[in-house]
Amino acid sequence: MSPIVISERLIDALTADRVRVVVLTGAGVSAESGIPTFRSAGGYWKSYRPEDLATPEAFARDPRTVWEWYAHRRRLVAGAEPNPAHIELARWEMSLAGFTLITQNVDGLHRRAGSRQPFELHGNITESICHRCRQSQGSVGLGPKGELPACACGGKIRPAVVWFGEPLPQRTLQLAGEAAERADVYFSIGTSSIVQPAADLAYVAKEAGAYLIEINPEETAMSRLFDECLRGPAGAIVPEIGKRVFDGESHGITSGVKDIHVESHES
Ligand code: OAD
Repeated sequence: MSPIVISERLIDALTADRVRVVVLTGAGVSAESGIPTFRSAGGYWKSYRPEDLATPEAFARDPRTVWEWYAHRRRLVAGAEPNPAHIELARWEMSLAGFTLITQNVDGLHRRAGSRQPFELHGNITESICHRCRQSQGSVGLGPKGELPACACGGKIRPAVVWFGEPLPQRTLQLAGEAAERADVYFSIGTSSIVQPAADLAYVAKEAGAYLIEINPEETAMSRLFDECLRGPAGAIVPEIGKRVFDGESHGITSGVKDIHVESHES
């Protein structure tokens, strides 16, 4: 059993007066809720091509296949529950005046865990919009006999998510960028750090002098940028950090979780 070691440097940073903390999450934070990631073992992009399912071109060519994939994912999300990482991050929001949660996830689990205002960079899979007039369409999806939903304007209704080749919601992206610029501590949790512009937020935070932490069982494309890499599942590590910071538990050497270690990068 490897211990989870939370460094004094990180605890000091998180307990500093008026600390500003920014957290970016990706699919890995929901893996322990049973929602597949995109690129790790068993991830969606191991068996499907994004250009067949997650682009405007795919929707124009074959809206039914795209909708069936999203209907499947909506069912998964509806049956999933927030895990200890989501719940702990909601507690951080309650406990810290300067806290910003940014997520690439479309599953809405952060909100369901109690986070009040996560910046959802890639939209929300439970909601729908008209592909033509962009009017919100609630949560409408395929009809009972598999009918494709249509808007009053005649446009096709689609899930309210950002597809490859589409711009992110500009106001949300701007607010996320501003938060990263002001961060004292920046966490990247459960993301492969491959998809832009989300991955670049770590550079923004680094440039602004933030202390950077990655939480991920695997090394990522950007691990070398981070001051510390905590290698293990978010559902164990995030609550452990919370115990040390908010519950004042001494001293971070907790057993019972396998395969966790910390890498420290001297800059
Ligand atoms: P990825 O699937 O690319 O990466 C998930 C990351 O989570 C990997 O680095 C895993 O090692 C890590 N991981 C797995 N289990 C974990 C756990 N229990 N705790 C912590 N980390 C774990 O997902 P994202 O980086 O979120 O975009 O992908 C970014 C975007 O690419 C997605 O938002 C989606 C996708 O295509 C769109 O659909 C527009």
